[in-house]
Amino acid sequence: MTPLLELQGLTRSYGSLTAVDHVDLTVMPGERHALIGPNGAGKSTLFATVAGTLRASSGRVLLSGQDVTSLAESERARRGMLRTYQHASLFLDCSVLDNVALAVQRVHGVAHRFDRAARRFRRTDAEALRHLESVGLDGRARDKVAALSHGERRQLEVAMVLAAEPALVMFDEPTAGMSAAETERFVELMERLPESLTLVIVEHDLDVVFRLAGRVTVLHLGKVLASGPPEEIRADEAVQSAYLGSARTEDLFADAGGAP
Ligand SMILES: Nc1ncnc2c1ncn2[C@@H]1O[C@H](COP(=O)(O)OP(=O)(O)O)[C@@H](O)[C@H]1O
Ligand SMILES: [Mg+2]
Repeated sequence: MTPLLELQGLTRSYGSLTAVDHVDLTVMPGERHALIGPNGAGKSTLFATVAGTLRASSGRVLLSGQDVTSLAESERARRGMLRTYQHASLFLDCSVLDNVALAVQRVHGVAHRFDRAARRFRRTDAEALRHLESVGLDGRARDKVAALSHGERRQLEVAMVLAAEPALVMFDEPTAGMSAAETERFVELMERLPESLTLVIVEHDLDVVFRLAGRVTVLHLGKVLASGPPEEIRADEAVQSAYLGSARTEDLFADAGGAP
């Protein structure tokens, strides 16, 4: 099977600092892959370089076997690779439904014929409502986005991502700034996403990581320190020492559902 995403020697430097250093990584279709590592490890840089927000200094990014390294973020998105932003661009004054409907229309293109517009809008709304149902926000469809809580806005963002029918979604610290209850709801929502959807998630909350991820990659000083199933990563000595002395140590070994 061809990997959905493959990184070959991916490198990104800022001047003399190599923030991402020859990273090789393979993500298979349907995989839920988490990227973790201490502060400054290169997670955000790697994420942005894969999505096309940043240019690679060297190495390659392959999407379904096709080299997309030189393509802009928008072109990668058109080919099915979507990334989320920590601050999503939502239309606060529009309804929740309209925000998703706009995302649906972006995929299907706008109506060319005016006389078909009304029928088209009804279909668009029905599709948008379906995406809202799958993230549990259908009850808020007619409310303005401005009235949503932080957690609900992140749910809305997922609905908008689903509307684009991507093959791969890259989530950038999705639970950052969420309350414990919001995080719980968000994890449940992620668990319900279609199995065919491939996810790459940068996440600082290791509880969330070990619940959601089928594979975990640990970055340290720009390099892959370890990559494998969650239980293997938890037991990895190199991973333990990379985290040693950081505030995350307790999270890694105490709260992540118990050591294997
Ligand atoms: N725009 C930038 N210019 C220069 N150095 C940067 C820039 N962004 C990040 N860095 C550096 O690159 C390294 C990796 O940073 P980053 O990718 O943000 O790591 P993480 O997301 O894992 O905390 C750090 O040493 C950081 O200081
Ligand atoms: Mg970061």
